[in-house]
Amino acid sequence: MTDQELERLAQGYRAFVSEAAVESPVYSGLAAAVAGDRDVLRFLAGLPPGRRQPTLLFAALRFLGGVPADGAALHERVLSDSQRLDATMRARATQTNEPARCAALLPALATIGGSLALVEVGTSAGLCLYPDRYSYEYDGRPVGPRQDVHLRCTTSGPVPLPSGLPQVVARIGIDLNPLDVTDPDDRAWLRALVWPGPVESERLQRLDAAAAVAALDPPVLLAGDLVERLPAALALVPAGATPVVLHTAVLPYVPEDRRTAFVEQVRGLPVRWVAQEGAGMVPGTGRQFRGGWGPYFVLSIDGRPVARTAPHGGRIDWLDEGSPGPVRPGADPDRSRGSSGRTRSPR
Ligand SMILES: C[S@@+](CC[C@H](N)C(=O)[O-])C[C@H]1O[C@@H](n2cnc3c(N)ncnc32)[C@H](O)[C@@H]1O
Repeated sequence: MTDQELERLAQGYRAFVSEAAVESPVYSGLAAAVAGDRDVLRFLAGLPPGRRQPTLLFAALRFLGGVPADGAALHERVLSDSQRLDATMRARATQTNEPARCAALLPALATIGGSLALVEVGTSAGLCLYPDRYSYEYDGRPVGPRQDVHLRCTTSGPVPLPSGLPQVVARIGIDLNPLDVTDPDDRAWLRALVWPGPVESERLQRLDAAAAVAALDPPVLLAGDLVERLPAALALVPAGATPVVLHTAVLPYVPEDRRTAFVEQVRGLPVRWVAQEGAGMVPGTGRQFRGGWGPYFVLSIDGRPVARTAPHGGRIDWLDEGSPGPVRPGADPDRSRGSSGRTRSPR
């Protein structure tokens, strides 16, 4: 590994310092320490590309022995436990499952209505397949009887809030590596993926409660690539149900050619399509939103952008008809994004 390559790795960690500053000051500080620690950078360089990122390193450390107190503790852990750390970072992936995203999905599902067969690609442990088992509060207005997973969301614009919960008759998930909420190691990994910080205990509580819901009535999970497994998943949809292909925070992880193949595939199928992804990940959703998309996701139905949503589902800004406005040259992430399509660290 040359000095130049180590410097490139350090740069990735330096970029993460500001990215995590608000959500996780602890990880922000650890990332700064890693960027200046040549021993740790050398350890990371021994991993395959795509397995060296801060989110994976910190989750693996947390999984194996808790969050290091500071850069010195991280240094010591990496050097003394390098074999287990290496094995964990090769075997595991960043596949955070955030059930709170259901608060943003609910209005989209409500516009579809009827008996829904949810087919979620990039499902992780499938915790977004239970929108009907959670309760909601939109600007204080409740939807559904109170449940252990209770999701609060602020809104603006004409959000089509439902009066009740959707009728979900099938829950089918596809993932390269589906996580099993009944497996203690997978549960521990899901918990390790949550960042330490101001919203950590709320997120862990929600994760545990949602995992308990899923464990009582597990979804059907298919292992494999979303394009390859979609036909098999759709074959499981019961007669009379409306198949809804669903995904949230998945497409940045999918190589561009596979992403294109997936979009073409879904467009050609007799299904409804609900996506919550970064701007431009679904073609046609990168158009400039008044005030910009910022770190927000775009909620789209059948490829049409309908709302701007907070990445973890706590806010929805529904678009007025025509609100995205004209495309400014160079401002469309559909066209300006690099081939990885990634704007933030994978998580
Ligand atoms: C950030 S997680 C999001 C999980 C879940 N959708 C959520 O929002 O809570 C992204 C998931 O996509 C999965 N994934 C990435 N590429 C995939 C592919 N080509 N086919 C199927 N799943 C994939 C990953 O394994 C991971 O579980």
